[in-house]
Amino acid sequence: MNHLYYGDNLDVLREDIDTESVDLIYLDPPFNSGKDYNVLFKSPSGEDSQAQIQAFEDTWHWSSESERFLEQLKFKNGNLAELLDLMVRQFGRNDLSAYLVMMAVRLVELHRVLKPTGSLYLHCDQNASHYLKLILDTVFGINNFRNEIIWHYYNKYSAGKKCFARNYDQIFFYSKTSSYTFQPLREKRDEPVKQLVRENVNGVLKNKKDANGNCIYRIVDDKKVDSVWRIPCLQPASKEMLRYPTQKPLALLERIIQASSNPDDVVLDPFCGCGTAVHAAQKLGRKWIGIDITHLAIGIIENRLKEAFPDVEYEVHGTPKDLQGAIDLANRDKYQFQWWACSLVDAQPYQGKKKGADGGIDGQIFFTDIEKGKSITKKIIVSVKGGKNISLTMLKDLIATVQGNKAEIGLFITLASPTKPMLKEAASRGFYKAGNGREYPRIQILTIEELLNGKLPEYFDAGMGELAFKKSQRETKVIGKQMELF
Ligand SMILES: C[S@@+](CC[C@H](N)C(=O)[O-])C[C@H]1O[C@@H](n2cnc3c(N)ncnc32)[C@H](O)[C@@H]1O
Repeated sequence: MNHLYYGDNLDVLREDIDTESVDLIYLDPPFNSGKDYNVLFKSPSGEDSQAQIQAFEDTWHWSSESERFLEQLKFKNGNLAELLDLMVRQFGRNDLSAYLVMMAVRLVELHRVLKPTGSLYLHCDQNASHYLKLILDTVFGINNFRNEIIWHYYNKYSAGKKCFARNYDQIFFYSKTSSYTFQPLREKRDEPVKQLVRENVNGVLKNKKDANGNCIYRIVDDKKVDSVWRIPCLQPASKEMLRYPTQKPLALLERIIQASSNPDDVVLDPFCGCGTAVHAAQKLGRKWIGIDITHLAIGIIENRLKEAFPDVEYEVHGTPKDLQGAIDLANRDKYQFQWWACSLVDAQPYQGKKKGADGGIDGQIFFTDIEKGKSITKKIIVSVKGGKNISLTMLKDLIATVQGNKAEIGLFITLASPTKPMLKEAASRGFYKAGNGREYPRIQILTIEELLNGKLPEYFDAGMGELAFKKSQRETKVIGKQMELF
């Protein structure tokens, strides 16, 4: 069975993942770049909906938790505790040390859950790669270091001020023991045209164009995959782009999974983001476990899987299954609750301003209606309330926002039951007449309990299906094909 967990991967690893139960681990943790990552949404018609949401932070601070991790490591792995002690003394109790300690405790657990024949691929960049390598050498043993893979994304450069532009990430590949699964791979290597002219290669020559239509590369020959991986970064127009920050290309994950696992093996991604590893594992006929700490990511993955593999079966853990779970989540974290509630109705989460035209918008649902024979994109504005006390004023705010934004429908999602005056106010707002001739209430109120029982907002979508996130492409499973990737 496949599993998707919402939660901190340290807790999930310690509580839910058995020792020696996983064949392959890929992890792409935040890199300690000091940046915050936002998800940018566009409306289905392409115009900028200005919906922008902070998905995750990439900044770490030394805290009592870091001290606790250091203490725990003394009992789990003495050598590692000594190494970290040295690093902490050298760097001080700062953001970098906090990041390294956070990673170290997780790598110890990841090593534990890996089967003796298994491998781990840690994706990172220059911000902390050299320190992470020391930690990995200590956890896995220096003899089990297999490769430092350079992912050279030749179509994107991170311009640096007064230094050379960076155009690669590093991926450290370790096996748990010396007896591990590995399939050598071959690729059709791209080489720059200029080089080709000099080399006089006899292989297949074919023009290849970049995004601007310029011919810059030619496919040369079938070569053994080496440790420099020339795979382009996703571009905004890429078909697989879901607009999740730091989303990695499927080709990268397919290569890792094909090289270091067999069909039906278990692939684990403990920082799974929008689920690229999960998608690649499913496509290649592996079982998978994905973990992420935000409901935003879990919602996107569920959508991605629904689009790409309509029949896929998996269990979701850690997301509320009943009213009590929803109350717990609302008490714990207002934004996670809002993202989760939005995912129940396939709404794009939205971080509107507190006041003004965007006031109180927590999500948007875009749908297509037909007017005078033409398809037109329409909008439902969603407001989510997780508190015990809800009032008529809150509903009136939503009504004003719906009017101000020229939306067709307002959807008020609430944990608490609506009051009679609220129900009366909603009913007094009349109906929206859709292209199919039917009428739908302009202001709809749904409780979390009703949503959990399967009730959904009422509207007509001539475009078929919801458009909450950019749709992933439908996939067909490829099982047992190990060789070519391009
Ligand atoms: C760099 S992104 C991964 C992107 C992913 N490889 C993809 O292709 O979409 C890192 C992810 O780790 C998640 N994350 C950060 N800390 C976490 C933790 N302690 N447990 C689980 N997930 C975490 C973030 O929410 C974010 O989605």
